[in-house]
Amino acid sequence: MKALVLSGGKGTRLRPITHTSAKQLVPIANKPILFYGLEAIAQAGIKEVGIVVGETQAEIRAAVGKGEKWGLKVTYIPQSAPLGLAHAVKISEPFLKKDEFVMYLGDNLLRDGIDTLVDEFKKKKPNSLILLAKVPNPEQFGVAELSNGQIRHLEEKPKNPKSDMAVVGVYMFDSNIFKAVKSIKPSARGELEITHAIQYLIDKKLTVLPHTVAGWWKDTGRLEDLLEANRLVLGSMKTRNQGTVDSASKLEGIVIVEKGARVVNSTVRGPAIIGEKAQVINSYVGPYTAIYHDTRLENSEIDNSIVLENSVVESVKRIEGSLIGQNAVVKQTPVKPSAYRIMIGDSSRVEIP
Ligand code: DAU
Repeated sequence: MKALVLSGGKGTRLRPITHTSAKQLVPIANKPILFYGLEAIAQAGIKEVGIVVGETQAEIRAAVGKGEKWGLKVTYIPQSAPLGLAHAVKISEPFLKKDEFVMYLGDNLLRDGIDTLVDEFKKKKPNSLILLAKVPNPEQFGVAELSNGQIRHLEEKPKNPKSDMAVVGVYMFDSNIFKAVKSIKPSARGELEITHAIQYLIDKKLTVLPHTVAGWWKDTGRLEDLLEANRLVLGSMKTRNQGTVDSASKLEGIVIVEKGARVVNSTVRGPAIIGEKAQVINSYVGPYTAIYHDTRLENSEIDNSIVLENSVVESVKRIEGSLIGQNAVVKQTPVKPSAYRIMIGDSSRVEIP
């Protein structure tokens, strides 16, 4: 069995972060989202992985390399443009050949990994196995209509969903999927949809089994989902201190201080993580916050947020529910007039009280 990880695409919902970097590499609890998927694949005993890459391929290649870190053998499959999930499958046929495979969307996160899914596929030998999860907002996903436990119909992001069962971004296929992806036509949004390809399998009376997700699942395509994924992962971590924390500082609850990080005269109330060589000085870091490597937080308070590499937060009263990009600076200045002075990228969002 092989794995196909989709790590191309545009990431429009996470702009401006994705203007400059791949959405699959945004860290959740200080680890790129994509790495959780690769770990789940390795854990399931799969060794050969194809990664579909697009515009951001240099960054993905630099982060993942040949996959040795996970005991994987990675092959990169460049996609000329994000023409759809089924298009990604189509161009991957020379890599996948006749093998069965798990397709994993690089921005999805599953608490329990994919072991049970892979086991069920091996045991029941269907043509496809798809993962489903009950969600409050089915119109934002592929939606499955079931009767008697069987999938009757699939729709991609329907305006009026017929059920609340969303299609999760992890699928299992045998080589029948290639006939399907070659037979379907682009959807109204101009993409070859994997939901349509699976519908083709159903219409041809091939066996497509549903498998409902037991633990939590997150598609991290939007800021709110990223923050929630960050909360979920941080909440399940264990306290670890590899940095320096001075005697005037307090660490409460689950707190991870990574190598070379410095906490000075500050309170960190977990679950929270302070990245390598980050500096937290005279500050408060509240629950569900991930401060990435090489950042500086000084005379500030922050909670329920993600701060990326090399950024500085200085003398800011309180930040919450925020994602601060790489190399960003957020600071208070004494310069008059006391007004907001902002230089923000395209498609950014700033909320001011
Ligand atoms: O997350 C689950 C949902 O994923 C499913 O419920 C939907 O049925 C499915 O279509 C998909 O919807 P999204 O709109 O969230 O897909 P997105 O465009 O975000 O792409 C998912 C991943 O695949 C992402 O990591 C980018 C990558 N991708 C996407 C496209 C369209 C590619 O590598 N190539 C592509 O052509």
